[in-house]
Parts: sequence; structure tokens; C-alpha cells
Amino acid sequence: KKLVFSGVQPTGNLHLGNYLGAIRKFVALQEQSDCIYCVVDMHAITMWQEPAELENSTREVTAAFLAAGIDPTKHIVFNQSRVMQHAELAWVFNCVARMGWLNKMTQFKDKAGKDRENASVGLFAYPTLMAADILVYRATHVPVGDDQKQHLELTREIAQKFNHDFSDRIRDLGVGVEMKSGEETVHGFFPITEPVIEGEATRVMSLRDGTKKMSKSDPSDLSRINLTDDAETIAKKIRKAKTDPQPLPSEVEGLKERPDADNLVGIYAALAGKTREQVLGEFGGQQFSVFKPALADLAVDKLAPIASEMRRISADRAYVDSVLRDGGERAGALAEKTMKDVRRIVGLLGD
Ligand code: TYM
Repeated sequence: KKLVFSGVQPTGNLHLGNYLGAIRKFVALQEQSDCIYCVVDMHAITMWQEPAELENSTREVTAAFLAAGIDPTKHIVFNQSRVMQHAELAWVFNCVARMGWLNKMTQFKDKAGKDRENASVGLFAYPTLMAADILVYRATHVPVGDDQKQHLELTREIAQKFNHDFSDRIRDLGVGVEMKSGEETVHGFFPITEPVIEGEATRVMSLRDGTKKMSKSDPSDLSRINLTDDAETIAKKIRKAKTDPQPLPSEVEGLKERPDADNLVGIYAALAGKTREQVLGEFGGQQFSVFKPALADLAVDKLAPIASEMRRISADRAYVDSVLRDGGERAGALAEKTMKDVRRIVGLLGD
């Protein structure tokens, strides 16, 4: 059976990229699978966070999950630091993963910037904690945006190496399962996780520069649509979004050298539940002066209800905290089950 896990960092404003690339898929997947959705506060502190803001952001991301439609009674919603087994398994994975693997991670290079000597050790080890998040539940499917692809490949490598290094022990203890590894069937403990990166908005770009990813850290607020923006702000940001002077093409190929146009069409498609082709079928040949107001209306239509629901839920802090506490307890029980086996597999004495 499918087991879905994903995480979002509580580091400032959630934006349209987080919603279309990740959170909206979390909601869709809960119909057919068991899902665990985590606010990854321990990942957040790999870069400096004001403690009080971190607390607020953790509650805010939780409210966004709930406002978007995740059901915390059928599934699990919690913050990472409550379940210490994530950190415990991450340590084991630090000893499985190789320096050379982590040295290839582009997110570390981007986030550490020029002053790499001064980056935290946690930022470097970030991907092993992420692998632990997923594998401590032995999750099989992970919905994310395109920027997390490399981290998920590393997660697969770690699972494979662990399964391989400890294969005799896993067999002797009888804790493994038959699993497909590409074409062949192997006997392993950790599943080889499938990334779920699909749809028209796996990489939403900045509204000011279609060649840059929409991100929480962009200094220009006009570059992104925040999940908390009101209708007027959403409309203004779309009106001001960068475009080129040509009308929209009628075919998807016509978007190739036009990143800003491609991004807006992609956003429209994702929000409308259509493909880029369908959107161009409707708007091909039209000017942005026609397309932008239609996009603004659609965005307000889809996002404003989430913003108001977020405000309503955030006002009830006791409720948000109770969701996290309850989710943490249920997640902790599952994680401990895995860790009991991991400790035995590795040879770490416990009960
Ligand atoms: P984070 O917090 O940066 O982003 C949360 C999710 O939003 C997606 N995303 C985007 N999708 C499309 N377009 C964009 N412009 C865009 N920006 C962000 C991200 O791909 C992500 O899915 N490392 C993760 C958090 C994490 C995690 C995990 C995810 C920790 N442990 C385990 C999955 C499984 C991160 O920093 O996401």
C-alpha cells in the first residue's frame, strides 16, 4: 500500500509555488493513501531563525495544511522536532551517506553561498535528515516540487546502500521485505521511495523574472504570491508581473523562449486543473491585457478562500497545537517501530 510523506519548512511566507508544487498535491493524495505531512522545524534551523518567529511559522504552515484541506484525523500532521526518531535515524544515515554524495547537492551550494566555511554543519547534512524524515516511516511516495528532486535521489541512494550494507543482518533478523529495485526484486528494509513530481506547476517561477524560482527568500514581495495575500494584492501582483510584448502563442512550443509567459500560463493551467495546451487553446493569440485579468480572477477564486480559512484556523492556537500534539504522538509510535528494527539491524543495543 502507498504511504505518502512530505514536509514543508516553516521559514517565512508560504507562496504559490509551495501550494501548487506541494500542498495542493498533499490534499489530492489523501483520497487514496495514508499520508504523513510534516512541518520540518529542524530543517528550518539549518539557517538562523528567530525562535519566536519559528514558533509562529510552524503554526502558520500547520494552518495552511488544514486550510488547504488536509484532514488531520484521517492522516497525520505534526512538527518534526516532536518525533526525535527523525534525528536518530538521520545520525545513522550520516554514517551511511558519503561526503562525495552530499558535496554534489546544489541546494547546499545555493544556500551556503560564497562563505561556505561559515555555513552550519546542519545545512550540509540537511539531505540526510530529509532521508530520515521519509524513511523513518518507510514511506513509498513523496510529493514535492521539482527543486527537491536531487534530495529524493539521495534518499534512494541512502536506502539502497543501507539495504545493501546490512543485507545479511536484515535477512537474519527477518525484518526485511521483498521489494522491487528497478527491474530486480531484492530483500531490503527501506523502500526505494518514488518522487511524485507532476503536473503543470512543478517549478513556479518568480513573477519578476521567469528564469528564477519563486521563493520565500526573494527580497521583492512582488516576485511571489503569498498564501496569505488578500484579493487586491494578488490582482496587483499579477498585473505587475513581468511579460513580453507579444500575444500568447497558440501552441506550447511557442512558450519555449518566453519564460515569463510560460510561467503565467503554467500557473493558470495548474489553478484551473488544465494543461498548458488547453489554456493556450482558450487564450492563444490574446494579449496579456486580456489574459492577466482572467488569471487574477482565477487566482483570487482559488486562493482567497484558503487565506481566509488560514486566518480562521490560526486564530485558534489551542486547536492548531492540539493537532500537532496528536499528530506527533501517532507519528512517534510509527517511527519508534522502525527505529526498534534499525537499532537491531545496525547493532546499537537497546531494549
Ligand atoms: P520547502 O519548504 O522549501 O518547500 C516546500 C515544498 O514546496 C515546493 N516548492 C515549489 N514547488 C514549485 N515551485 C516553486 N517555486 C517551489 N518552491 C518550493 C518544494 O519542492 C517542496 O515540495 N527540503 C524540503 C522540505 C522537506 C521534505 C522532507 C520534503 C524536509 N523533509 C521530506 C519532502 C520529504 C524543503 O525545503 O521544502
